[in-house]
Formats: sequence, C-alpha cells, structure tokens
Amino acid sequence: MREQITFDGPAASGKSTLAKNVAKQLGAFFINTGDMYRTLTWSIRQRGINIATEKQKIVDLLDIVNICYNLDDGEPVLFCEGKKVDQAEIRCHVITENVSLVASIPEVRHWLVARQRASADLGLLVMEGRDIGTVVFPQARYKFFVTASPEVRAKRRLSQNGEVPEGATIEKVARDIARRDEQDMNRSISPLKQADDAIYVDTSEMNIEEATAMIIRVVKEKQNAVHA
Ligand code: CDP
Repeated sequence: MREQITFDGPAASGKSTLAKNVAKQLGAFFINTGDMYRTLTWSIRQRGINIATEKQKIVDLLDIVNICYNLDDGEPVLFCEGKKVDQAEIRCHVITENVSLVASIPEVRHWLVARQRASADLGLLVMEGRDIGTVVFPQARYKFFVTASPEVRAKRRLSQNGEVPEGATIEKVARDIARRDEQDMNRSISPLKQADDAIYVDTSEMNIEEATAMIIRVVKEKQNAVHA
C-alpha cells in the first residue's frame, strides 16, 4: 500500500517520538527529514564551506554529495557518502544552530524533496519534518501538525542530552528554539505551517502514550472510512 502519514511542527514539539511510535505500531517505514537537512549541514561544515557567505559552493556540493535513506535490516537508515550517519554528529548544537540557514536555500530544498518523495515507493510511510503535509506529500490522506507550548518544548529539549550546549539554561534553550522557529516559519520557500487538511495536535498536556493512541485512532477511523 503506497500511503503517507505526515507529521509537521516546530522544534522539540514531540513530533519525532510520536511519529516513530506511530510508525512502529502501524508497521510503517519511518523517515525523519530533519536528519537529512542536518546531514547536509554536517557535510557542508566538514568541507569547510562558510554557510553564511558561500551559497554557490553549497549548491555545487549537491552535484557530488550523496545523502539518502537505504533499507538496512528492513528499516530505512540514513547514509551519507555510503556511511551510516552518526546521530551524535548531526544532533550537536553547532549543527542545530546552522541547519535552518541551509534549509532556506531553494536548491537544497528541491534536491532533498526529490529524495524524500522517492521514499513513497517503500509503501506505508510515516514522514516527519516541516513541509511534509504542505509540499512533499500534499495529497497524503493522513496529516498531523504537532506542537506544544514554548515552555514545554524548551524543557523537552533541555532534557535531550547532547542537543544543547553544556550548562545551557532553560531561557537560552527557549531563545534558541524561538529563533529557529522564526527562521523556519518566515523563509520564503516552504515555510513551516499547518496544512489546511492537517489535524492539529497540542502535546503540552498529553503524555506520549496518549498522543500516540489518539493518532492511531484517527488513522484507523480514516482507513475504515476509505475502505467501507
Ligand atoms: O528535531 P528538531 O525539532 O530539532 O528539528 P529537525 O526536525 O531535526 O529539523 C532541523 C531543521 O531542519 C529545522 O529547524 C528546519 O530548519 C529544517 N527542516 C526543514 O526545513 N524541512 C524539513 N522537512 C525538516 C527539517
């Protein structure tokens, strides 16, 4: 069955955990598109390219760099230049600080969106990011827009080891998240926004089990309606 379940939303909204749980329970393939933008940002930095001033070098890099999800033991795993991507390297603070600038380059988005769309051939797919329901799979039947209050999001990020600098305060984490949201929501190409037909899920007051159960229920109801 070629079908997509999309999760979009701002930083640290809980959408990754939620999307992963939903994929597991439904036996779907899971793709995290943020990891693709992060991996490209990592590769740019490895080559010593200045992200703020050397846009053409970034565009040229797209002709030679290879970033894609491949099946490994039946699961999609992200590879860069033939090597498995190391989560610790792409989730560190310096990548988080720079990724939104890379993600605002139109050529980068076209290049990655084409790779993301190719994953539809896998079958039932859960994909998460910022523009999945609006741009990558606008025709998807199941769309969710996940968010949480700024305080809850900052607390969640602070508790994720390695993703914030050592000794960071809750205020600093909240500021960093707000800055990235602002960049993601205001870029001219594919800004972060809720698709008109996406279901809004506020996880501020929900634990992960409740949110997962709610989403599974919605997907099953829609599936039954389609097959009735
Ligand atoms: O996990 P977290 O919420 O920190 O973010 P992420 O999903 O890893 O995404 C990192 C960044 O990649 C976002 O802040 C966006 O700038 C960019 N991104 C995007 O522009 N479009 C996507 N579909 C996914 C991520």
